Amino acid sequence: MARKSLIIGNWKMNLTHLEAIAVTQRLWYRLNPADFDRADVVIAPPFTCLRTIQTLIMADRMPFGLGAQHVHWEREGAFTGEVSAGMLAKLDVGYVIVGHSERRAMFGETDELARKRVRAVLSAGMTPVVCVGETLSERESGETEMVVTTQLRGALRRLTAEQRASVVVAYEPVWAIGTGRHALPDDAGGVCELLRNTVLAMGGPEAGEAVRILYGGSVNPGNIAAFIAKTHIDGALVGGASLDPDTFAAVVRYWM
Ligand code: 13P
Repeated sequence: MARKSLIIGNWKMNLTHLEAIAVTQRLWYRLNPADFDRADVVIAPPFTCLRTIQTLIMADRMPFGLGAQHVHWEREGAFTGEVSAGMLAKLDVGYVIVGHSERRAMFGETDELARKRVRAVLSAGMTPVVCVGETLSERESGETEMVVTTQLRGALRRLTAEQRASVVVAYEPVWAIGTGRHALPDDAGGVCELLRNTVLAMGGPEAGEAVRILYGGSVNPGNIAAFIAKTHIDGALVGGASLDPDTFAAVVRYWM
């Protein structure tokens, strides 16, 4: 069974909703139907842009998927500043990033909180994008495999095999994020194979085969093809290079 490529632009805390319109339109002009046949292309803007981009995508029938960068696990209530999975699903959000290393490092995200978010996202009919990755010191101490498998196992605990098959996993080595220093494709491919085997061990062969695994960390138009060429890498989670429509279009059209 072939897994369709998935390329997600994580805008992080960048672009107002007005800037988001311009970037999305420019990206759209630069892509062809053939690009969307080859890859699912998802934009994950800040919360303040979701409604705007949803409207734009609908009005112009743009085949972009919409992603969110964060979610709370409760359905509703007194959680000042938080947004629920149900609210995101109502905005046609299809993907939600969970466990990003920036949230782990700056906002106290743990494997257990990631697990709660994964469940909430799945219950609302969306796809969680579970991020895992080692820091430089963990890598240098030879702990990469242990760190990423612990993070993934923690996030996928107590799910059905079907649910495990439906998640997206993103391997983002922390030292490669925003540094211009990407992982070696062979190394990343090896870690992604390990992550696939982890899903397989938890959810069975079908889940292992179906799950899409992305690489993230200083992905750009010049290096994406080498990552996607790896058997166990099915796409990319792109930060900085997704903010400029020309650059992001070149990432999506890696196969040209
Ligand atoms: P960069 O592509 O800017 O390194 O960011 C990667 C990332 O964190 C995507 O989630």
